[in-house]
Amino acid sequence: MAKGKREFFCRSADGSITYTTDGNFLFAESAGGEVRLDIFAGHYYKLRPYNGVPILEVDGLRMQLVRDFETPLDYSKEVVKGLGIPREGQFTVLDTCMGLGYTAIAASKSPAVRLVVTCEVSEAVITLAQWNPFSEKLFAKDGNILVMKGSAAELIKGFEDNMFSFVIHDPPRITHAPELYSPAFYKELYRACKRGARIFHYVGSVGKGKGRRIDREVGKRLADAGFASIRYVPRLQGLYAKKH
Ligand SMILES: C[S@@+](CC[C@H](N)C(=O)[O-])C[C@H]1O[C@@H](n2cnc3c(N)ncnc32)[C@H](O)[C@@H]1O
Repeated sequence: MAKGKREFFCRSADGSITYTTDGNFLFAESAGGEVRLDIFAGHYYKLRPYNGVPILEVDGLRMQLVRDFETPLDYSKEVVKGLGIPREGQFTVLDTCMGLGYTAIAASKSPAVRLVVTCEVSEAVITLAQWNPFSEKLFAKDGNILVMKGSAAELIKGFEDNMFSFVIHDPPRITHAPELYSPAFYKELYRACKRGARIFHYVGSVGKGKGRRIDREVGKRLADAGFASIRYVPRLQGLYAKKH
C-alpha cells in the first residue's frame, strides 16, 4: 500500500464503526470522530492488520502466533481443537491471558462450553479489545465469556477447586511475565482444574541447540505441579498436559 494511503478494513457488526488501515495502523471512525488504535501506557500497545485480522503488538512483539497460520484465528481454532472438548456436556474453560480474546472466543464456540473465564492484566489491552471488531464476542451481553480484569497469578487464587475442565494458558514470554510460569501459579492451576482436565500452555519456539529449552523447563514445572501426559506440539509452539 502506498505510504499514507488508507484502505477499508471492515465494519463493526452494527455498522456504526468503519475501520480503515494504512497497512501499519488500524483506525476506527464513527459519528464521534476517528481514533488510531494504539495506546502508550507504560508499554506500547498497538493493533496491526494481518491478513484481514488485527493482531496485538506490545512493544513491537506480536501477541498472536501467525507463523504457519493464515490468521491468528486459525491458530486459536487449532489450539482449541487439540484440547479435544467433547460435543456434549457442560464445561467451564479458563483462558488465563485474554489479549484480543481469540483463544477465548474459539473455546466459547464449542457447543458443550457453558462458560469461558478469561483474565487480562492490562487496561490498555482491554481497551484495544473493546475497539477490535474481531473481539466483539468477548463483551457480548448474552454471551458465554466472562472477562476478569487483573493478573491471572492473583485471580487464580480465587477460583474454586476442580472448577475448570479445560485451560488455555497463552502468556507472554517468561521474561515478560515470570509470575505466569512460577511453581506457585502452576500449583494453583492444578488445584483449580478438575480431574481429567486438559490444558494447553504456549511456550514459544524451541531451538535444537544448547540454549534454554523452555518446553523442557515448563514441562518439568507442570509435572512437579502434578500434571501428566505432557507433550510439545511444534506447530502450536505449546504443550498439552492433563490432570489425571
Ligand atoms: C500472548 S497474549 C494472549 C493472546 C490471546 N490468547 C489471544 O488469543 O488474543 C498475552 C496477554 O497476556 C496479558 N498478560 C500479561 N501478564 C498477565 C497476567 N499476569 N495476567 C493476565 N494477563 C496477563 C498481556 O497483556 C497479553 O494481552
